[in-house]
Amino acid sequence: MNQPATRIDTATLDPLETASVDELRATQVKRLKWSLKHAYDNVPFYRQSFDKAGIHPDDIQTLADLAKLPFTTKADLRDNYPFGMLATPMSEIVRIHASSGTTGQPTVVGYTQKDIDVWSDVVARSIRAAGGSRNDKVHVAYGYGLFTGGLGAHYGAERLGCAVIPMSGGQTEKQVQLIRDFAPDIIMVTPSYMLNIADEMERQGIDPRTLPLRTGIFGAEPWTDSMRTALEQRLGIDALDIYGLSEVMGPGVGMECLETKDGPTIWEDHFYPEIIDPVSGEVLPDGEYGELVFTTLTKEGLPVIRYRTRDLTRLLPGTARPMRRIDKITGRSDDMLIIRGVNVFPTQIEEQLLKIASLSPHYEIEVSRQGNMDMVRVRVEANHHDIARDPAACEDAAKQLQHAIKTYIGISTQVEVCQVESVMRSLGKARRVKDLR
Ligand code: DLL
Repeated sequence: MNQPATRIDTATLDPLETASVDELRATQVKRLKWSLKHAYDNVPFYRQSFDKAGIHPDDIQTLADLAKLPFTTKADLRDNYPFGMLATPMSEIVRIHASSGTTGQPTVVGYTQKDIDVWSDVVARSIRAAGGSRNDKVHVAYGYGLFTGGLGAHYGAERLGCAVIPMSGGQTEKQVQLIRDFAPDIIMVTPSYMLNIADEMERQGIDPRTLPLRTGIFGAEPWTDSMRTALEQRLGIDALDIYGLSEVMGPGVGMECLETKDGPTIWEDHFYPEIIDPVSGEVLPDGEYGELVFTTLTKEGLPVIRYRTRDLTRLLPGTARPMRRIDKITGRSDDMLIIRGVNVFPTQIEEQLLKIASLSPHYEIEVSRQGNMDMVRVRVEANHHDIARDPAACEDAAKQLQHAIKTYIGISTQVEVCQVESVMRSLGKARRVKDLR
């Protein structure tokens, strides 16, 4: 492994983080021109796709001109597997990550030392936005390895000067032991695995609210504001949303600020966001929902130009920082279920079940087809053994959920309230949908 990134003075904010919007836009234009030229000159894929579209990097003079360029998709990265998208010789690459996705063929990304430095800086900035400082101990329970979560969080926390506990995912009992004994101030983990850790704490007779843990930096999967409330109350912490994806960098592309908790601020000095209509590809104005697209502005190893994330959200004006925010991500276009013509995201079902006190946040959704009909079955655990053992209470909770889903989402479902610990637990990203169609 490389030498960990050096520490920065945690008292000073990055000047660009608080620059005026005009200064920010000027920096973005300058960086965009560099990034386009870098990609065009060094990645045959970009040269071909720009040439085919009849566009040269010199034609792009403003941020709005970006819309003239073709998109890049995950399929393009896969077609150039493993190293065809790199813009620097391998001698300049110091780290490789990969994400496996659902199709088996991994998407591979590479970083130069400067990329690792920028990544560490944006994650340090993210932890600081969550109220963290060099005085904090940070427990990292994102998986270490090819997944960007663990190492991305680690280098950023170290860069801020925090004491990092590189626990990685899994070994839930040990997670709890270390949280109890080392008393971290901040935990970085997927929200679904946090629930799992909280269950284990309670199983061991520890009241999570009595621990010194102050902040959770949760991401890598969609989660709702209702889940935020549930986690905050159960753990006695502030729960904040960190966003990112490996193709663009990893965790820390955006981060929610503690003072506002209103969706991740996109660190747009490095990652330029657009929202497009996922069908027509047309750029949508800020405030409208669509698919999030990123162009990297400073990345050397693997620049991406108009990369389609498949994440659905909207761009919102800055609040705690001048940079724009995204709304909490409702889901990926790939996770959207179409049930008898109605578009449904698992997060919508999550929102409904968290309103029912006798249900836990552990759930899964099974979709099958009977004849020509889509059937949706929601399996959700009772939140206590006493409820799970009481058939009338289970049935009552099931009816409530069924009714809420019908009323607020508009689909009929079968709901099964099941025993505590009968839904598969995640150690990282939760897999909540089983589509059997
Ligand atoms: O999940 C990077 C990451 C690690 C982000 C740790 C945050 C914390 P990938 O494995 O490439 O990278 O998956 C990226 O995960 O396109 C979203 O669909 C989803 N995702 C990531 N963060 C969030 C979030 C990492 N805060 C994909 N809310 C993205 C909703 C998220 N979805």
